[in-house]
Amino acid sequence: MAGEAALSHVESGMKLGLGSGSTSEAFIRALGVRVAEGLQVVGVPTSERAAVLAASLSIPLATLDEVPELNLTIDGADEIGPDLALIKGGGGALLREKIVATASRRMIVIADSSKVVDTLGAFPLPIEVVPFGLTATRAKIAATAERLGLIGTLNLRKTDSGAPYLTDGGHFILDASFRRIPRPEALAKALEAIPGVVEHGLFIGIATMAIVAHPQGIKTITR
Ligand code: A5P
Repeated sequence: MAGEAALSHVESGMKLGLGSGSTSEAFIRALGVRVAEGLQVVGVPTSERAAVLAASLSIPLATLDEVPELNLTIDGADEIGPDLALIKGGGGALLREKIVATASRRMIVIADSSKVVDTLGAFPLPIEVVPFGLTATRAKIAATAERLGLIGTLNLRKTDSGAPYLTDGGHFILDASFRRIPRPEALAKALEAIPGVVEHGLFIGIATMAIVAHPQGIKTITR
């Protein structure tokens, strides 16, 4: 429902960031139907997986280098908190998602109502790190978080075969279970100051609207 509703914000001629995850995939499928009917857009995918899906639906695609300024990005989220602060990266695509979203004039988040929370953090925060020096980086993240009153486990994400999960950028992900992140801005700034951290899944001040599917219907949240 949210994916379909997001289509009403798409106009012909737009350059669109295409999100990752199951909700974004629903949007991409709906977009594919409109493109087959004649809608003209160019999509910049936020993951290899989104690229494969969009290409299979014959949605014209470009890289962000070919189209560095986008009209709109439509993407999912793992949590939507106050002021449309988000946790993203459950699917591992947070780095490209953030690069694409911040290259867009607007970002619309699509999700079901279970993703809307009063305080971020019940969903483990994905932190993308460089494989080199993982142990040192993990210790620095733990110490930094503790200074902010955040204590929790930092789990190295693994694949089903037990090998470390590798992002599209060739990095690892540490999933931080802080349970509550009352001051996401402070944590975001602190994480960005750690050299081994490539990016984190806190999206603050980026989303301009959320389209949320409730059992009773669609509700929008704006910032
Ligand atoms: C991908 O890395 C994520 O940021 C997704 O946007 C997020 O995990 C939401 O995915 P679902 O729509 O599958 O819940």
